Amino acid sequence: MTNRTFTMIKPDATEKGSTGGILAMINAAGFRIVAMKMTHLGAGKAGQFYEVHKERPFYGELVEFMSRGPITAAILEKENAVEDFRKLIGATNPANAEEGTIRKKYAASIGENAVHGSDSDENAAIEGAFFFNKLEQF
Ligand code: CMP
Repeated sequence: MTNRTFTMIKPDATEKGSTGGILAMINAAGFRIVAMKMTHLGAGKAGQFYEVHKERPFYGELVEFMSRGPITAAILEKENAVEDFRKLIGATNPANAEEGTIRKKYAASIGENAVHGSDSDENAAIEGAFFFNKLEQF
């Protein structure tokens, strides 16, 4: 187990001005931001990031959505980071997300679900390295 996870605040949340509110919830839950940047993924980069979902029926829609506008990418540090962050963001489908979770408060649908959180330590390392080199991680 490592103590880091990776997150993206997605284009829907950026458009709605929810970035600050989401970061405040992340901080309040005890996560330390050790890397962060706002950027706009092109379809190529978005497709590469979500390559594991390439065969899924929603892949095209997902790539289109994730390249629609700016995102904020960050690496977060906390004991048990991956599992605790997934609890904080709530279920992928906001209709199933519990009260007090980020997706319950900010997400509109299973596709436009406001935030991403890594699902394993291994993917957290891969996804963090996709956006940040060593000099950009503190
Ligand atoms: P995320 O946690 O970023 O990982 C994969 C993403 O695919 C997921 O959040 C959703 O945004 C998206 N996704 C998962 N299932 C569906 C679905 N059935 N339809 C559309 N998008 C989906």
